[in-house]
Amino acid sequence: IQIKPTSIVVFGGTGDLAKRKLFPAFFNLYMDGRMPSQFQIIALGRQPYEQESFRDYVHENILAFSRNTNFSQEQWQAFQDHITFHKAHIDDDSSYDDLNMLFNKNDALWGERGNRLFYLSIAPSFIEQVSSGLKRFQLADDVTGDRIIFEKPFGYDKSSAIRLNKLLANTFHEQQIYRIDHYLGKETVQNILAFRFGNSIFEPLWNNRHIDSVQITVAEQVGVENRGGYYDHSGALRDMIQNHLLQILCMVAMEAPEEFESEQIRDRKADLLKSVRRIKREDINHYTVRAQYDAGQINGLPKKAYRDEPGVNPLSTTETFVAMKFYIDNERWLGVPFYMRTGKSLQQKHSAVVINFKDSTKTKFPANKNSIENNQLTINIQPEMDIRLSFMSKQPGLDMEMTPAQMVFDYFQCASNGPEAYETLLLDALDGDSTLFMRSDQVEEAWDIIEAIQEEWEHGDLSPIYSYPAGSWGPEAADELLKRQGHRWLSSFPPFTQPAI
Ligand code: BG6
Repeated sequence: IQIKPTSIVVFGGTGDLAKRKLFPAFFNLYMDGRMPSQFQIIALGRQPYEQESFRDYVHENILAFSRNTNFSQEQWQAFQDHITFHKAHIDDDSSYDDLNMLFNKNDALWGERGNRLFYLSIAPSFIEQVSSGLKRFQLADDVTGDRIIFEKPFGYDKSSAIRLNKLLANTFHEQQIYRIDHYLGKETVQNILAFRFGNSIFEPLWNNRHIDSVQITVAEQVGVENRGGYYDHSGALRDMIQNHLLQILCMVAMEAPEEFESEQIRDRKADLLKSVRRIKREDINHYTVRAQYDAGQINGLPKKAYRDEPGVNPLSTTETFVAMKFYIDNERWLGVPFYMRTGKSLQQKHSAVVINFKDSTKTKFPANKNSIENNQLTINIQPEMDIRLSFMSKQPGLDMEMTPAQMVFDYFQCASNGPEAYETLLLDALDGDSTLFMRSDQVEEAWDIIEAIQEEWEHGDLSPIYSYPAGSWGPEAADELLKRQGHRWLSSFPPFTQPAI
């Protein structure tokens, strides 16, 4: 694809995200020949770097965090010429003047006005200032390929998200706004749509006649690490469910778009979020479980309790674990429970979607019929990246004995060094493809889904906060949530071993 010359501005250019994700992603795209033929990355930050020392700092971080560390000095030299550091302060009008000057310099070099891509890797409280600064100094055009990218949190609740969306709409058209949910950049998450809509054998079964229940798990082994201050005001519901898990739900449950085209896909996702049944405040205890990790052990090492983490209120009631059950009120999914859970300091890092099929076999097998297990499809998102279909097979031998077997598609066998989420997302934003980004209506619907839960958890008294030892799979109450309907979480994700035949 030929992308127009582009000035890329990273607000927060000396921050953690830029260091670990953005620069390595730009570099990898560059090494793959996917950056525009002419581009300049302008890193804005408050730290006192010189041009040279900033480029050295980026070099170090690329060596530490990039999947691509095997490059020559010439390749690095060529890339580093595309980086400009500029000391700037968001509050300071002169920073916007400087930016204007830098843009003009790039445009003069390219002989045309380049696109401008603004990446806001800054605290949400600064978004308003930056967006109005860009408007006042006329740095972003509303008819060209100028775009703004920013990250969650997209607000703190529904009303603040609406306010933020309105505010951005003062400077940018919705088509210019790229809201990142980095889960959508993950290969395995994108593949859910390819798997569903690019094959004819799964979609006919993808409904309540054949599917009994669905589970979405995003389990993390890490605790809150050095993010206690942020996390304690957020909690798992806002930090993970409102965005990553609901976006995965969209991929799993949305209707088929007629064409694989950005707006159609985003329309279908928004439709899906609208049809998620809202949980009434009085039913919250029946549909949700929240919990916080206590001291425990992870991989044999002691892990302190959440309340003892730096930056966390010692009396905090912020949840680090959520399990919940949703229903989707449309023809396809009526009556099918969708279970979701996410948590920190759990036993294993594992994200997966599990589709449990109903038993619709008619034949009665003579022998060990009782051991027949229903079909199950597991989409392992990370760290294992595979799709497994489990089915029953005849045990080789003289009798008609049945045994479970699996068919596996393993990503690592075909792409062990594939692009990282940020590479996909940055390339799409450079290229103007918004398919994998969240539209304002999706964000607002997602907040609407959790609004009653937020209110009850913050102000009500119906919902206890359980605790779970670090290194476990969460509180028992999360298992009870499923047991009531005869279900259970798939909680061990053993590496696949070929059945001995
Ligand atoms: C972020 C959350 O959005 O996603 C973090 O704020 C979480 O709390 C992270 O750890 C998980 O992302 P990944 O890609 O490591 O699964």
